[in-house]
Amino acid sequence: MYPRAGNFSSIIKEHPYLNMKIVVANWKMNPPTLKRAKRLLSHLENVCGRIKNLKIVICPPFVYLPIFSQSNLILGAQNVFWEMKGAFTGEISPPMLKSLKCKYVILGHSERRRLGEDYSMIRKKIISSVRAGLRPIVCIGEEKEGENVIKIIKKELLSLLNGIPPKFLLAYEPVWAIGSKRPCPPQRAKRALFFLKKYYPKTRILYGGSVSSSNASEYIKVGFDGLLIGSASLNIKEFTKILLALTA
Ligand code: PGA
Repeated sequence: MYPRAGNFSSIIKEHPYLNMKIVVANWKMNPPTLKRAKRLLSHLENVCGRIKNLKIVICPPFVYLPIFSQSNLILGAQNVFWEMKGAFTGEISPPMLKSLKCKYVILGHSERRRLGEDYSMIRKKIISSVRAGLRPIVCIGEEKEGENVIKIIKKELLSLLNGIPPKFLLAYEPVWAIGSKRPCPPQRAKRALFFLKKYYPKTRILYGGSVSSSNASEYIKVGFDGLLIGSASLNIKEFTKILLALTA
């Protein structure tokens, strides 16, 4: 039976996962060996198995996905190609990721844009991923501190997502805050969050950029639905602290 319209708070109470925060670990080009990836995997299985009420998505490099797909972890990829099949040396297709139990894929990350990915390439990747049943985590954000954030993310939304059904998550990642140990203050990040929520009220909006155990819960307090975490997600102690801070 369907719940009556207008009764959303009771729906959320009955189905707490609807309101569940999400933590996405972006491992980038780490760890350097399969042996270390296996070690991280066994630590993570331990930690994630004990954490309730938090969706934890691990995005290791492609080459480690087959091993990770044998675990119970929720998986994402860090990139994907836009074609479903064909002669494209070195590329990975959306169906390949699906077959390795990936549910999510990070797209539009500034580190890939720096290598030459433009709006039209990212857009094609988003469309193909959605078509294949993957959930893209689309990264947007200004390059430099002090730029007109709203103007920039408005342009990004138009260029990347116009006309695409909102079957994606958004990650507000000010580029200057990524890997810099200079996180965007939560009160400032909140402005981008509110703007994004106006256009995408039902979409999960994450914050990313120098998240650590000392600031993670602050972003949730100002209203973000989750976090995209780079370097801190490779340090199991620190990552566990973050997860515990979010479930406290
Ligand atoms: P960081 O990376 O947490 O190391 O700043 C975030 C990201 O690249 O998504």
